[in-house]
Amino acid sequence: MTKKIYIINGSPRKNWNTSKLCESFAQGVVDVGGCAEIINLYDVDFKGCRACSACKLKNGKNYGFCSYPDELKEILKKVSLADGICFATPIYFGDVSGVMKMFIERLVYPFVRFDKQYTPIPPKKLKTAAMYTMNVDENTFLNQYIGKNNSAPIGFFENWITHIYEKPRRICAFNTFQYHDYSKYDDKRWDIEDKIKQHEEVFPKDLENAYNAGKNFI
Ligand SMILES: Cc1cc2nc3c(=O)[nH]c(=O)nc-3n(C[C@H](O)[C@H](O)[C@H](O)COP(=O)(O)O)c2cc1C
Repeated sequence: MTKKIYIINGSPRKNWNTSKLCESFAQGVVDVGGCAEIINLYDVDFKGCRACSACKLKNGKNYGFCSYPDELKEILKKVSLADGICFATPIYFGDVSGVMKMFIERLVYPFVRFDKQYTPIPPKKLKTAAMYTMNVDENTFLNQYIGKNNSAPIGFFENWITHIYEKPRRICAFNTFQYHDYSKYDDKRWDIEDKIKQHEEVFPKDLENAYNAGKNFI
């Protein structure tokens, strides 16, 4: 049967770094006979967990699932019954973007029991991937965002995914291009020549990595 893979895009910018990685990953999935759908979270009208606790109510009809009635409800349902999820996000303040954080609250919280082990109870154990785009280089990402023993925000994010699903295959794009024309913006933090070089020489390889990750995903 055709494998269904959802790619969850936590970037607001269509056609920019994260979206391009999503498209490459999707193409990889499709080229080996899978079905890929990109969900742009900025197009979905939803908020984070409301702490209504309906997903934890003993014998409740919504036990173990987020049934808060907004546009995310049906998406959560289909995503959690798919064959795999690829989470894609720009790094914002050393963490996933706000919408990705809200998505994770709604997806993961209902799928852990509140016992000593936080026993995972997703309807299916899914294959996962995680794609990140950011300004910083790989060392900074590993040291400050993943952290020692996954103690920093992105490490923590991956721990929760790994807890309920499989460990995500990680794809990164570092030192990304944030504007088409840096001279127009008040941004002196980065070496622009270096950015241009990275954009022209390395970013195409990042896209290829995402494509291959999609191909090997199913
Ligand atoms: C609100 C905001 C916060 C950001 N914080 C960080 C950060 O902490 N570290 C980093 O490396 N890049 C940071 N960036 C840069 C983005 O992660 C980077 O440009 C990313 O590739 C943007 O993805 P996009 O092209 O898909 O929008 C930030 C950008 C924005 C808009």
